[in-house]
Amino acid sequence: MNIILGITGGIAAYKTASLARLLVKQGYSVRVVMTAGACEFITPLTFQALTGNAVHTTLLDEQAEKGMGHIELAKWADKIIVAPASANSIASMCSGSANELLYAVILASKAKLFIAPAMNEVMWANPVVQKNIQELKKMYVDKIQFIGPDAGEQACGDVGYGRMSEPEYIVEFVSRLNEQITVEQILVGKKVMITAGPTQELIDPVRYITNKSSGKMGYALAIAAQKMGAQVILVSGPVNLKCPENIAIINVQSAKQMLQQALANINDCDIFIGCAAVADYACSQVSEHKLKKIDGQSTMTLELIKNPDILASIAQLPNKPFCVGFAAETQNVEQNAKIKLEQKNLDWIVANDVSKSEIGFNSDDNQVTLISKEKTLQFKKMSKQKLAYSILNAVCTDF
Ligand code: C5P
Repeated sequence: MNIILGITGGIAAYKTASLARLLVKQGYSVRVVMTAGACEFITPLTFQALTGNAVHTTLLDEQAEKGMGHIELAKWADKIIVAPASANSIASMCSGSANELLYAVILASKAKLFIAPAMNEVMWANPVVQKNIQELKKMYVDKIQFIGPDAGEQACGDVGYGRMSEPEYIVEFVSRLNEQITVEQILVGKKVMITAGPTQELIDPVRYITNKSSGKMGYALAIAAQKMGAQVILVSGPVNLKCPENIAIINVQSAKQMLQQALANINDCDIFIGCAAVADYACSQVSEHKLKKIDGQSTMTLELIKNPDILASIAQLPNKPFCVGFAAETQNVEQNAKIKLEQKNLDWIVANDVSKSEIGFNSDDNQVTLISKEKTLQFKKMSKQKLAYSILNAVCTDF
C-alpha cells in the first residue's frame, strides 16, 4: 500500500514525524511531500531518514521531474494523508490551486484523501474555514475523509478544537478503512473497564519482575469501545503507548495497585475486560535499598508470593459486570482457556497462542478464539485494532 504523506505549514508538523514512523512500521510505503511552509517547521531530512525515501518539496524541479514528477506521484499513491492540514492548505485544495507540488499531486490523483486539520481554535471555528471544508466534502464526496481535529490544549496556549489528531489515531483510522471495519454505536450508555499492559513487581528500588506485554491489545480495545460509544476506564500497567483520547486512564505499576484501582472504580461498570498480563507472583519482601552482589555467593534466591487475581476478584463481586478474560497459552490453548473460563467465573474468554511470534505479545497482529460456555468463535489473523472491534461486536451479542 503506497501512501503520500503531505505536510503543510503548522507547528503540528513535529507530530508528523511520529506519524511517518508509525506508517512505515505498519508496512506502508511512504513518500513525503512537503510545502514550503512545512519546511519552515521541520526539515525534509527528518522524513527522508524516517521513510528511507527522498522527500519531494518543489513542483518545478528538473531533477525531481526526471525521477518522480507530480503525475507519477499522483499515480503511485493509493492514499494521500495531509497532516497537518493548515487553514491555508484547506483553502488551496478547495480552490483547486496547484501552486505547490502537494496540491498539484492531489488534483492529479485518484487516491483516497485523508485530511488531518491543525490550527488555532478561532481559525478552525471561522466560517470561511468551515465553508471550505463543506465545499471539499461536497466536491470529493466519498474520496475525502477528515480526521479530527481534536479538542485540547494548543501549541499557542489556547484551549479548544484545532489540535491535530494523535499519530496513533490517524494510523488506526487509515488502517481501519483499509480493513473495512464498521463501527456501530452499540456501546452507547455503557461503561467499560479494561486492564492493559504488564505489571511490574519490585525487587528493590531499581529492579522489578515483569513480562513482554506491550499493552497494544488492551489499548486497541479501549479505543474501539470508546469509538463504539462507551465510557471507558483504562487501568494500565507501564507501557510505551500514548494515552488514547477521551479515555480515563489510571496508571499503575504492580498487580496489587491494579486490583486496588480496578475495585475502586468498578462501580456502575457494565463490562470488565481483563487484558493485562498480570504477574502471577510478586516478591514477598521488597528490599528498601538496592540489593548488592555478595562475594563468593553464585546464586541468589527470591521468595515470591502469589498476586491477587484481578479478573477473578471482579467476577466474584455481587453485582459483577459482564466479564471477559484473556488466556495467553503456549499449548492446549482452547482446553486451558475453557478451564480458566470456569475457574474465574467469566462470560467470555479470548484464547491466543503466544508461542507464535507473529501474533500475540508485542506484535501488531493477533489470532484468537473466543470462547463462552455455549459458543466457540474462531477469528482469522488480523490487526489488533480490527480484532478489538470484532471481539466487542461478538461480546455485545451476548451482553
Ligand atoms: O490465569 P491467567 O494469568 O492465565 O489468566 C489470564 C487472565 O486473567 C487475563 O485476562 C488476565 O488479565 C487475568 N489476570 C488477572 N489477575 C491476575 C492474573 C490474571 O486479572 N493476577
